[in-house]
Amino acid sequence: MPIADPAAFILANTRFQPVPHAPEVSLWLADEITPIWRLTEEELGEMGLPPPFWAFAWAGGQGLARWVLDHPEEVAGKRVLDFAAGSGLVGIAAMKAGAASALCADIDPFCGAAVALNAAANGVALTFTDADLLDAQPPEVEVICAGDVFYEQPMSGRVLDWLRMAAANGTRVLVGDPLRTYFPKDGFDLLAEYEVPTTRELEDNAVKRTRVWTLR
Ligand SMILES: C[S@@+](CC[C@H](N)C(=O)[O-])C[C@H]1O[C@@H](n2cnc3c(N)ncnc32)[C@H](O)[C@@H]1O
Repeated sequence: MPIADPAAFILANTRFQPVPHAPEVSLWLADEITPIWRLTEEELGEMGLPPPFWAFAWAGGQGLARWVLDHPEEVAGKRVLDFAAGSGLVGIAAMKAGAASALCADIDPFCGAAVALNAAANGVALTFTDADLLDAQPPEVEVICAGDVFYEQPMSGRVLDWLRMAAANGTRVLVGDPLRTYFPKDGFDLLAEYEVPTTRELEDNAVKRTRVWTLR
């Protein structure tokens, strides 16, 4: 079922709040996962949907946003792709750090509206696509950011092959990962390590050790 008004749904069910590990960015975020997940299923008239990822700043994205904000030279003047953008957190961080443009990509039907609301609230311009970019060659950008994408199979395998293709073409690939099960350290160089505040409800821990990596 198509969503009547995703922006109204987001505004009604989230709160605008700073991102704990990157407070230069504030986002429309939910405080608890279960109620908004249930409401999403009601809104879409479907059960068994993936969680509303866009309503949370995941540890991997928080770590990567922190790193980008602290290393503006990595993105300044460059075209950036925020792959699996969720809320658009990393794309917003890239624009705040001086990127020439940031394209957010995510296949979740609420993400377009979430990214638009969050971009406007942070005073940055972002573009968005809901196309599954993994089905094609990586786009022509200088930097691909991927925050928290190694949490399930087969997605992790597809993402890794695709990111490797991008890195082989000369694109700088930056990944934020909080020790997710399917993150393969092979071929990655460590850039930074953080203790990222999260919630026990989301992660069973109040803090999640999160690393930022680049793909060789
Ligand atoms: C754990 S969330 C991370 C969101 C954000 N990067 C962050 O760190 O807060 C993972 C995201 O991957 C998205 N996703 C899953 N498969 C995808 C695909 N093939 N292309 C783009 N996004 C995808 C999901 O919809 C979800 O928003």
